[in-house]
Formats: sequence, structure tokens, C-alpha cells
Amino acid sequence: MTTRSKITGTGMCVPDNVVTNHDLAKLMDTSDEWIQKRTGIVERRWITEGETPSGLAETATLQALEQAGLEASDIDCILLATLSAEHEFPGTAFFLQRRLDFGEIPCVDLRAQCSGFLYALTFADALVCAGRYERVLVVGCEVHSTGLEMADRGRDVSVLFGDGAGAVVVEANRDENDPAGLLDIRLHADGQHAERLWVEVPASGVHPTRITKEMIDEGRAFPTMQGRFVFKHAVRRMPEVLLEVLSAASLKLDDIDLFLFHQANLRINEYVAKQLEIPAERLLSNIHKFGNCSAASIPLLLAEASREGRLERGQLVSMTAFGSGFTWASAVVRW
Ligand SMILES: CC(C)(COP(=O)(O)OP(=O)(O)OC[C@H]1O[C@@H](n2cnc3c(N)ncnc32)[C@H](O)[C@@H]1OP(=O)(O)O)[C@@H](O)C(=O)NCCC(=O)NCCS
Repeated sequence: MTTRSKITGTGMCVPDNVVTNHDLAKLMDTSDEWIQKRTGIVERRWITEGETPSGLAETATLQALEQAGLEASDIDCILLATLSAEHEFPGTAFFLQRRLDFGEIPCVDLRAQCSGFLYALTFADALVCAGRYERVLVVGCEVHSTGLEMADRGRDVSVLFGDGAGAVVVEANRDENDPAGLLDIRLHADGQHAERLWVEVPASGVHPTRITKEMIDEGRAFPTMQGRFVFKHAVRRMPEVLLEVLSAASLKLDDIDLFLFHQANLRINEYVAKQLEIPAERLLSNIHKFGNCSAASIPLLLAEASREGRLERGQLVSMTAFGSGFTWASAVVRW
């Protein structure tokens, strides 16, 4: 009997606190016009005191469980993708696990940056299809705002990122009459460009102390990016991997009902959509209101699409991401 991994629930959470481009222009030398023109971002959500990554993940998880008709105690394993963990260690997954009645199930953080959700989905699929676990919770969760440089020096990066969490429940589907499931997924990475988009410290390989006041003053604890270089690679790798996975699944672009792209920059996504001739009505977007939420971007899109009634059982859904590492990935799912 074939086992497929089926997404049975989606959930999302963004902080209530809306930060507009005009708000940012009070903190650094930027403007609403510059940000909208280059990125498509109008506003993003940033946490306020008392909110945490695991708190956002908890709300998203509860929604996903409810949609799947499950309790936390039904989940066998938690995979949480993040580049902005709640603490240096242990991972955010552990802080999420203790918030709900999961029991002593395994949990782990995965670090594949903006492709993290698709990496985690791959591992969830492998665990489910191998018969290891029946139900895996996959979460993408980021709090960027507390790690951004709110000054002119960091403005190219700080205007891009938002906070949020998205969660899905992945379950084993052995029903021969139910075609829903992950059809194929492809992951890639190229560590040669690791420093082009990174946060250098704290770094265990920096001897003798992984973080000092000097390093903070030098801006080495904030994300830095070679924006044009990243842009060029994103617009090449995203179509490449999207076509690769469609070909592996013997599908054509025209077969796909909905395209979900990682939300790094609206211009990247418009460029890729144009190259592939994807019509605007089949491409989902939320970057204008949430910014780049890294590993949370794709599960946020999924949860929103589900709530808006845009996801129907039987549809074909394509998800594609590119990010730091570099990493890039694409999945195709029969919903
Ligand atoms: C970040 C990005 C929007 C910058 O756009 P760009 O057209 O490449 O702009 P540049 O970096 O060349 O900078 C152009 C000018 O704007 C300035 N600038 C940078 N950030 C600015 C900001 N927030 N507000 C106003 N001006 C800014 C630069 O200093 C530069 O000024 P100069 O011409 O006087 O030197 C773009 O490179 C990008 O989106 N890259 C990919 C980002 C990404 O996807 N990251 C995440 C991947 S997961």
C-alpha cells in the first residue's frame, strides 16, 4: 500500500503590531517610496514586549491542529524551521513543545533559512512515508525584528523583514481513493555563497569568544546581505528548481492551480512569474503586509489561502523558495 503525506491542517500567526514604511523612515534614512518601489513591501508585523517565537508558533499550531481535527497529543514529532531561534540553544521547537500537551515527542529546529519550511516538509514526508511517524507538525517561525539594525547602516536589510509563524500538520494518507499528498519535492544548496547573506556572530568558530561588545559595535551581529547578488541568484534558481520538480512529477506549468513563492521581494517574484508566464491570479502574495518572514513565509501563504477559500481539495499547489545558504527548493502537492 502506498503512503502519501497529506497536509490536513494549516495555521498562522503574526503579531498585532503593524510597522509601516513611514514608521521605519523615522528610525533610519529610508522612505516609503524607496521600499515599495524596490520590494513591494508596505508594512510588516513586529513583536512587542512579551511576545516570543514559540508564542507565535503556538497560535499557528493550535489553528493547524483544529483544522486537522487533532489534539497536540496526536502529533508524533515536531520539525520547526527557523533562522531566528528563541535562544542560542535549545531550539524554538522545545519551547513550543512545552507550551502544549504534546507529551515527550521528539522535536528539532531545522536551519535552512528561507527554504527552511520546504526542507522541513521534505523530512516530514520522508518520516511519514517510511512509516516512522503518522503525524508530523511542521512549523516555520521567525522573529527577525529583535535582530535588525535600526539605523542607516542596516537599512538595506532591516526594511525587508517581518515576524510571523505558520504551521501545517502532515499526516500519512493510505486511502487509495484520496489522491491528496506531496507529489514531489527538490532541495538544493550552495554553501559557497554563505557569507553573501548572513549573520556572522555569535560564532562558535570565532576564538576565543564568540561575541564581544566590539563585534556588536561593528555590526557583525546584524544580518548583512549583498542584495544584487542575492537577487540575481534567486531569479535564476527559483524557476530552475520549480521546473525541475514539475518535470519529476510529470506536470506542466499549466497544470498548477496555485503558485506560492517565498516572499523575499515582490520584484523577484514578478520577475520569476514573468519568465515562466505564470498569470498573476495564480500567484499568491502577502509580502506587502508581512514583509519577508523567511521560513514562515510559505506556511503563512498556505494558511491564508486556506482561510480565504483559495485552496480546494484536488488542486495542484506549487511552492518554491530561495534563501541564505544559499538554499533553494520546490515542492508540488496535490491538495
Ligand atoms: C535589497 C534590495 C531591495 C536593494 O535594491 P537594489 O536595487 O539592489 O539597491 P542597492 O543595494 O543597489 O542600493 C541602491 C541605493 O539605495 C540605497 N539604499 C539601500 N537600502 C535603502 C533603504 N532602505 N532606503 C533607501 N535607500 C536605500 C543604497 O545605499 C544605494 O544607494 P547609492 O546608490 O547611493 O549607493 C535588492 O537588492 C533585493 O531585493 N535583493 C534581494 C534581497 C532578498 O531577496 N533577500 C532575501 C533573500 S531570502
